[in-house]
Amino acid sequence: MALLEIKKYPEKILKEKTVHLENIDAHTQRLIDDMTETMHAVRGLGLAANQVGIPKKLCIIDISLKEDKAPLIVLINPVIVEKEGAAEAEEGCLSIPGYLTSIKRAEKVFVRGIDREGRNLEIEGVGLLARALQHEIDHLEGILFIDRMSPIKREFFKRRYKKFLKDNSKE
Ligand code: CO
Repeated sequence: MALLEIKKYPEKILKEKTVHLENIDAHTQRLIDDMTETMHAVRGLGLAANQVGIPKKLCIIDISLKEDKAPLIVLINPVIVEKEGAAEAEEGCLSIPGYLTSIKRAEKVFVRGIDREGRNLEIEGVGLLARALQHEIDHLEGILFIDRMSPIKREFFKRRYKKFLKDNSKE
């Protein structure tokens, strides 16, 4: 296994829609393992393939850091087929390090996709899992959580983040 480089905002690939993953071959299996290792190394709760430079519909979720015994979820070509309710909670992203903000999302989602063995997968997520599913599936559509903020908040974020990037590049 290997650690992969996580693409950071404002890299272009994060804003682009990914394509369907057609073949779940040995190459895909290795990518899934490398993504899992990478996500665990930085204590993330989820990671989408385009965050590591592969623009395909594949993401992984592991919320076991927050909720005991939650399994690792590998989702290929996922689609949200149902949404229910609304909930607001603080969210972060491995591609926008050091920034957390409150985001409104559906409270419950129903997702269809396929797993790493190519079997049909149906997941009902509530609470944190619902949030993680929506966050990762957004990634695959080229949408970041900052795109879900109000325009005013987003402008404020952009200014602050530019300064953050500038300060960090000096070191
Ligand atoms: Co993210």
